[in-house]
Amino acid sequence: MHEFMIHEGFINLAYLIASVLFIFGLKGLTHPRTAVRGNSLGASGMLLAAVATMLKVGLDYRLIIGGMVVGGLIGAVVALKVRMTGMPQMVALFNGFGGIASALVAGATLLPRLGQYGTGAQDIQELVSVSAAALIGMVTFTGSIVAWGKLEEFKLIPSKAVSLPGQKAVNAIVFLATVAAGAWVVIDPTQALPLWVLAGLAGLMGVLLTIPIGGADMPVVIALLNSYSGLAAAATGFVINNNVLIIAGSLVGASGIILTTIMCKAMNRSLTNVLFGVLGPTADTATADEVYAGKVKSTSPEEVAMLFDGARRVVIVPGYGMAVAQAQHAVREVALQAEKLGAEVEFAIHPVAGRMPGHMNVLLAEADVPYEQLKEMDEINPTMDQVDICLVIGANDVVNPLARTDPKSPIAGMPIIDADKARTVVVVKRSLSPGFAGIPNPLFALDNALMLFGDGKKMMQELVAALKEQQ
Ligand code: TAP
Repeated sequence: MHEFMIHEGFINLAYLIASVLFIFGLKGLTHPRTAVRGNSLGASGMLLAAVATMLKVGLDYRLIIGGMVVGGLIGAVVALKVRMTGMPQMVALFNGFGGIASALVAGATLLPRLGQYGTGAQDIQELVSVSAAALIGMVTFTGSIVAWGKLEEFKLIPSKAVSLPGQKAVNAIVFLATVAAGAWVVIDPTQALPLWVLAGLAGLMGVLLTIPIGGADMPVVIALLNSYSGLAAAATGFVINNNVLIIAGSLVGASGIILTTIMCKAMNRSLTNVLFGVLGPTADTATADEVYAGKVKSTSPEEVAMLFDGARRVVIVPGYGMAVAQAQHAVREVALQAEKLGAEVEFAIHPVAGRMPGHMNVLLAEADVPYEQLKEMDEINPTMDQVDICLVIGANDVVNPLARTDPKSPIAGMPIIDADKARTVVVVKRSLSPGFAGIPNPLFALDNALMLFGDGKKMMQELVAALKEQQ
């Protein structure tokens, strides 16, 4: 008994230290300079929490080690194989797996105890936690699978918003039925049926909540699902009475909500608007032919290099295509060459450029672009009319002026980087294909716009060579 007490005290102390490490880790993640250290602190906290949990008495180590080996192997293979551009999808899957893990723990707790629950506070707490973990876990799981499919741009799950007739009414009914099933689990813990009904309805709710969101609003959903996975973990912490899981889950839940708010702000949308305000079909927005016919001018790396001669201010706007082309190092080289020619170079970072929060910051940091050169949208926009060359590399939706001018567009109201206001805009992409939101971009047809068609990395390398010739 005495030995167990010491054990328990040691474990709680380890949990406390782990929780403090999580909090300092999160703080570190708020700035690029301290992010790596923050990440290591968080990871050490998790290692400590995992080791402390393993030291708890009564665990079946064979199962745990077996699970770690199988899960670790699958994780390692997937992580090694994932393309850099597939990272957001992988994060979506991680959220989903977190959700299903919580739901499974809820099931594994409830099912062996069916018929043994009393009306004491502890039993009621366990049942409420089981119900919450199963509900949030299943919503997170199916919602994340749909989000993964949308990001992967599968034919099966269209990345655009899907609106079905009577969707809001169906959603409301499914929501109420799910909550009722959640209550049923608590009221009748003698049979397994309520749990299966709850899992099925919550899974359906995850699909229904995510399927109508699409195009440019996806960042909000990804952040929200991240938050749900944390809440599901926190509920599971109550199920198995594990303090560190409650704390870690709450931290993920809270930081996910903060990120959701930031993403909503970046899109100039309210959360209710994203979740419930499905935009109708955008049939009357202009077609690509109407927008582009006869107005698009293409250019070559040599011509663009000549423009740089005498340019005083250059702003580079990176987007998803830079990630696809892995052009970040070549882009950095372009910036260096432009500086050698006497230009002041800045990078304009849109908060939802790419496919995950901070996507562009990560890529540019990898290429050693100094952090001071990265400017946020709000900071750079007021001075865009004083920019000589705006080099848009693989960005599309985040520089689409339709957001300002067409209230029917799926990106209506989203703040954009005002690339169109620069004296000359050079857009590097392979074709006139649309971006994630699936709409044409009138920027490409403007008088001051030139298209540099080709793979981002190849074009940047050719531009570097042409710029070097000029010195
Ligand atoms: P997008 O609008 O998606 O446009 C990317 C462009 O890159 C495409 O038009 C594509 O044109 C071009 N491209 C692709 N491969 C290329 C290559 N190898 N070389 C050169 N260009 C290439 O990107 P964005 O402007 O960054 O906007 C992001 C969009 O994704 C927004 O709608 C945003 O809401 C959404 N989204 C963001 C997130 C987060 S959290 N950031 C998450 C989910 C969705 P070509 O095919 O013609 O080359």
